[in-house]
Amino acid sequence: MKRARLALLISGRGSNMAAILAAARPDYPAEPVLVLSNRGDAAGLGIAAARGVPIAVVESRAFKGDRAGFEAAMEAALAKHGVEIIALAGFMRVLTPEFVHRWEGRLINIHPSLLPAFPGLDTHARALAAGVRLHGCTVHLVTAGVDEGPIIAQAAVPVLPDDTEASLAARVLAAEHRLYPAALSWLAAGQIKVEAGRAVITAAEYAPESLLNPLPRAALLSTQ
Ligand code: GRF
Repeated sequence: MKRARLALLISGRGSNMAAILAAARPDYPAEPVLVLSNRGDAAGLGIAAARGVPIAVVESRAFKGDRAGFEAAMEAALAKHGVEIIALAGFMRVLTPEFVHRWEGRLINIHPSLLPAFPGLDTHARALAAGVRLHGCTVHLVTAGVDEGPIIAQAAVPVLPDDTEASLAARVLAAEHRLYPAALSWLAAGQIKVEAGRAVITAAEYAPESLLNPLPRAALLSTQ
């Protein structure tokens, strides 16, 4: 099997990156060849190095408003490692439309909400404030609009009555760690196509499920 050469872009903790590195055994369709951070102090760099994955740092602060220069430096690192697909994993810089266009169809992100609800920051606090009963995470292809690209996969978690921002974030993060490696594998294996702006998954093991929260009594669910 020809594996797609994968770069993971991070800015911090790197727990999604770690989940993908753990999933990327020899039969996984993507081979992590680079972990790239825009911050030298990102904790995820140490995790990647410990696993023997090459790391690189392009300090965004050093480019102060020069986004083209910052991205040119990133492109140089990506080219040096022969990168074919990119997974954003807590990467906290907005990419230019030019960068996104160059990597169109090969650039994927995870966002901690059920998009299109709660794009942007502070998603868990906003979900609690809105009183939603289901929250979760979304893996999507990246387009020029922030958190707007075609949705590949979503995982829902219940919002419990006594949840805090921290407890809800932890529940969503556990779902992220299961969802992201699966969604990324479909992209790497060429099992996602975009039709009319929507992602279609052609993978054989794709099994949609539904969720209800709160779950009504069985009698109320019956269609008899
Ligand atoms: C995750 O919640 C992800 O959805 C968001 O940023 C966070 C990154 O966490 N894009 P980690 O660095 O993967 O632990």
